[in-house]
This record gives sequence, structure tokens and C-alpha cells, in this order.
Amino acid sequence: MILVTGGTGLVGAHLLYYLLQKNSFVRATHRKSSDLEYIKDVFSYYTDKPDEFYNKIEWVEANLTDIPSLHTAFKGITHVYHAAAYISFNPKNLRGLRKTNVEGTANIVNLCLKYGIDKLCYVSSIATLGSVTNDDPVHEEIHWNSEEDNNVYAITKYGAEMEVWRGMQEGLKAVIVNPGVILGEGFWYSGSGTIIRNAAKGSKYYTQGGSGFVDVRDVVKAMMLLMKAQVSHERYVLVAENMSYKDLFTDLSHHIKVKPPQKLIGAQTLKWIARLDWLSSKLFGTKRKLLKSMIKSLTSNTTYSSQKIKTEHNFEFIPIAKTLERVAKNYSSKS
Ligand SMILES: NC(=O)c1ccc[n+]([C@@H]2O[C@H](COP(=O)([O-])OP(=O)(O)OC[C@H]3O[C@@H](n4cnc5c(N)ncnc54)[C@H](OP(=O)(O)O)[C@@H]3O)[C@@H](O)[C@H]2O)c1
Repeated sequence: MILVTGGTGLVGAHLLYYLLQKNSFVRATHRKSSDLEYIKDVFSYYTDKPDEFYNKIEWVEANLTDIPSLHTAFKGITHVYHAAAYISFNPKNLRGLRKTNVEGTANIVNLCLKYGIDKLCYVSSIATLGSVTNDDPVHEEIHWNSEEDNNVYAITKYGAEMEVWRGMQEGLKAVIVNPGVILGEGFWYSGSGTIIRNAAKGSKYYTQGGSGFVDVRDVVKAMMLLMKAQVSHERYVLVAENMSYKDLFTDLSHHIKVKPPQKLIGAQTLKWIARLDWLSSKLFGTKRKLLKSMIKSLTSNTTYSSQKIKTEHNFEFIPIAKTLERVAKNYSSKS
């Protein structure tokens, strides 16, 4: 039987749909506070009978930091997809990020070893890769550099990845995927889902940076392929294409039929906005919307290469233009 952690998130929900198409037995973890309705919403982009698929899932209430509940989740499991994580870039959340991402992943790895799990697939991020000093794309062999100005999310995702590598040293079969920014349906109000919602608002501004992007369908297909393949002790960058934010938002605005962004907003202006954002959080208790680490990623132009999975597994990515067209259409149909 398969166990999915983070089944109530973007990656986990799409993964559950693909798994349910192939397997009748899938167990997924949720927390007391999880909103399970999002899963049906994601399934509805694939099928007219979302409930039928949803009802096949065996749910177990388990927090990554609560070992007894995880023991229950692991009973009778052979394969584990670990997609749960706490995603925040706010330094004030470092303690919680460490607890969920590093300690939580250590718990998953330890239970995989204890229950003799056949294989683990862990969802890491391009955030755990190092950087290059030239224009070459970053790939699996560009390693983490602790001397760099790493953000709290990256630090804890790297710590989590180290736990998975430790597990492999102790005999666990595992693969790690390092996706870029994931684009997909559902979860329009959180994480990378907000990219589409923000584009739909028709912002006038764009930043000079860019990143590596990938379709959520490719992320889950790659995870399932790597789980099945005779491969372990490896990690794979999952980026379909590198793209500037300007091009991404322009493309999206055409599909959503709003005005494309016209004005460049520079790093200095962003820093001033971040200061005001900080002041507002101190004076009025508002939630931080623009952090230093966000400015770095909004203005940097790192590119990534997924040549490894393409060469070793003949993996073909969905072109991002197609992803944007589909996701924007599905967003418009629901809003
Ligand atoms: N989205 C991206 O662009 C992106 C890019 C690269 C890598 N990733 C990685 O991909 C994975 C999935 O991301 P996502 O976009 O699907 O995130 P998401 O939509 O925010 O989902 C996160 C999931 O983790 C669960 N979770 C959080 N804290 C937990 C805890 N303490 N115990 C148990 N479950 C917990 C959440 O459960 P609740 O429903 O209860 O909150 C939710 O199911 C993460 O590991 C993330 O780091 C994401």
C-alpha cells in the first residue's frame, strides 16, 4: 500500500489523483485543520466524478511532528511519497519550519527504516541547490553552499534532504525530486497557486527576475516514474523551462484576458516596499507580504537544467506555454 504525506496540498492532491487511477489502495495523511474539500476541487479538473476518486482514499490524521500518529499511518505501507512541508519565507517562522521540515522528515525517514519500506520518494526543491558564478544552468551536482545568503525555507528543505540522504546511508531506498516553481490547478489562494490569481488581477508591474517552472502533472508523473524505476540514491531537478516573470505574467494575462504588465519595478523600489511592509507589520500587526528573500528571488535570474531525468529516463516535460494556457483556462472557468 502507498502512503502520501501532504495529500491536502497542491502536489499531494494531484499525486493522489494519478495514484488512484493506477492503484486501488492509497492512504494519505491529513491534519485536524486540513481542508479536504480542496482535494475534490483538484480532482474535478480531471474527472466528472471527483467524489468517486476521493472516496477511495484512506485518510489518517497525522502530523509530521507527532510520531504515534505516524506509526498508525505506516501500518501495512510499502511505498511512501513525502510531499508534506511547511512553506514560509519569513525568518520569524524558522523554529516551526525546522520542526516540520527537518524533524518531520527525520521522523518519516526513521519510520521508513523501521517498517522496512521498499522505497521513499521525497519532494525537495531547487531551493536546496547551490548557485553558479556564471550563466550556466544549475543542476543536481551544484551543491548547497552554507556561506550563501540562504533563506529559512531553503535552509530547512536542505536539512530535510540531508535526513533523506542519511536514511539512504542507513539502508533506505529513496529518490529525491527538486522541482522548480510548480504550476497547477487548485490552491489558488496559497503557495505557487497565487501566481495565477495575481496574474488575473492584471498587475501593471513586473520584476526583472525569473526562475525555473514546471507543471504539477509533470512533477507527479516524474515521482511515480522514479518510484517504479530501478533507481535510488539520486536526485532529479524538475524544471520544464526557465522563464522571466515578465514573460510568465504576460503569457498568463493573454490567456486570462487582462492587461499584461508594462512597468519594471526595480530592486531598490522593492526594498522600500519591503521596509514599509515591515513597518506595517510592526505597527498594525499585518502579515508580511514582501520579505528580503522574496526580493532576491524576484530579481535574480538563475536558470536550471533537468537534463538528467531527460537523458536517464527519456522524460518529456509539458511545454510551459501549454501549462499556462490550461491552468489559466481552468482558473477562469472556476472564478
Ligand atoms: N509549490 C511549489 O512551487 C513547490 C516548488 C518546489 C518544491 N515544493 C515542495 O513540494 C512539496 C509540496 O508543496 P505544495 O506546493 O503541495 O505545498 P502546499 O500546497 O502548501 O501543501 C503542503 C502540505 O503539507 C502539509 N503539512 C504542512 N505541515 C504539516 C505537518 N506539520 N504535518 C503534516 N502535514 C503537514 C499540508 O497539510 P495541511 O493541509 O494540513 O496544511 C499540505 O498537505 C513541499 O515539500 C514543497 O516544499 C513546492
